[in-house]
Amino acid sequence: PRNVARDADGTLAVGGLTARALAEEFGTPAYVLDEGDLRSRCRDFRAAFPDQDVYYAGKAFLCRAVVRVIAEEGLHLDVCTGGELRTALAAGMPAERIGFHGNNKSVAELTRAVDAGVGRIIVDSFHEIDRLTGIARERGVRPKVLVRVTVGVEAHTHEFIATAHEDQKFGFSLAGGAAAQAAFRILDEDVLELRGLHSHIGSQIFDASGFEVSARRVLALQAQIRDARGVELPELDLGGGFGIAYTTQDDPATPQDLSKRLNKIVDSECAALSLAVPHLSVEPGRAIVGPAVFTLYEVGTVKDVDGIRTYVSVDGGMSDNIRTALYDASYSATIASRSSDASPILARVVGKHCESGDIVVKDEFLPADVQPGDLLAVPGTGAYCRSMASNYNHVPRPPVVAVRDGKARVIVRRETEDDLLALDVG
Ligand code: LLP
Repeated sequence: PRNVARDADGTLAVGGLTARALAEEFGTPAYVLDEGDLRSRCRDFRAAFPDQDVYYAGKAFLCRAVVRVIAEEGLHLDVCTGGELRTALAAGMPAERIGFHGNNKSVAELTRAVDAGVGRIIVDSFHEIDRLTGIARERGVRPKVLVRVTVGVEAHTHEFIATAHEDQKFGFSLAGGAAAQAAFRILDEDVLELRGLHSHIGSQIFDASGFEVSARRVLALQAQIRDARGVELPELDLGGGFGIAYTTQDDPATPQDLSKRLNKIVDSECAALSLAVPHLSVEPGRAIVGPAVFTLYEVGTVKDVDGIRTYVSVDGGMSDNIRTALYDASYSATIASRSSDASPILARVVGKHCESGDIVVKDEFLPADVQPGDLLAVPGTGAYCRSMASNYNHVPRPPVVAVRDGKARVIVRRETEDDLLALDVG
C-alpha cells in the first residue's frame, strides 16, 4: 500500500494503525486492505481513461465493501460467474455498469444476468450465442453483447494466465475466422445487440506491445465487419492484465502511460482503417487491488536447514496465497512488529500446510534474529489471494480488514472451524 510507513519504534503502520494493533484486534493471518490506497488506484485509472470506462475485474478480489468503493469511485465492474454477479448486485452496483464474462456461462447464469439488466455480456462460444438468443427471445429483451476475440498474441507471462494465444479455451479465434463468424451470427440475430469486440491477452503483463498488437488485430476485424456488413461497432474493450510490482525488480507502467499507449494505437489504427474511434474500455483487476493489501502473519517456528537457508513458518500459507505454488510467483516479506539491526540471512517463508510446496515467499533476506511471535507482512496480496483461498487442511480463511484514517473494520470476517463443519452433512 502507498500509506505504509514505520513508526518510531519500527512497527509497520498503515492508514494510521500499527501492524501490532491490527494483529491484536483482528488476529493473524489477516489481509489488511489500505482503503485510501485502493481508492487512489481507482482514481488514477479514472483520470487516465476519463471519457472511457474502467471495469474493475472482480475476480481479483470481490466483496460487498469493495464493490461499493468501486461504484463510488465511478468504475464499472467485470464479473465472471453467477456468484460474482450476486455479490455485485447485493452491494448495489448498478446493473448497467456490470459486464459479464466467462467461457461457460450456464443458462441459469445468463438468465439472471439478462433479468438483472447487465450492461454487457461478453460472449465466448457459439453455444453461448445460441443460449443467449433463446433467453432473449423468451424474455423479450435485447441484451448488449461483445465478442471475445482470441487475437493470437503470446503475452510474456506464466502459461496458466496467458489467454490470447490460439491453443487455450477462451474466445473466438481471429486467425481461424471464428471471431468474424460469431460477429456475423450476432448481427443476424435481431434479439442481440452487438456493441463491439473484446480482447484480453493475459495477466501480470509488463510489455505493453502485446496490447498494441492485439488492438491492431481487433480493429482489423472491426474493419472487416464494416466492409462485409456496413456496421461500425461502437465499443472496444482491450481487457486487463496490467502488471504490478511484487518485488523491487518489477517496473510497472502507470495507468497514464498505459492509457497513452493504448489510445495512441487505437487512434492511429482507426485513422489508417478509416474507422470511427470506438468507445474504449479496459478491465484492470490486479493493478487496482493488488498493491492495496498486505497479509499479516505471525511467525511460529524458525528452522535453520544445514546452512542452506532458514525456514520461517507462518500461521497461514498456500491456503491464503496459492500464487507462489501455482505460478512460481515472487513475493517479499518484512518483519512488521519491530525493527532489527541484526544481519540479514537468506530465508524462505513457508506456511503450516502439509506439503513442502507450501511456500509463501521463496527467497527473502530477513534479520537473523527473526523469531516466533514476530509479525511478518507480505505486501501485494490484494489480487488473487483471498479470491483463490482454500480450506486446505481445514484451515479457515483469514479475514479482510479495511483500514482508513486510523480506523479499521472487518469487511470479510474470518472463517471459523464451525463454518467448515457446518457444510458437513451426517
Ligand atoms: N478481463 C478478463 C477477461 C480477465 O480474464 C481478467 C483476468 C481480467 C480482465 C483482469 O486481469 P488483471 O488485470 O487482474 O490481470 N489467478 C491469476 C490471474 C488470472 C487472471 C484471470 N483473468 C493470478 O493469480 O495471477
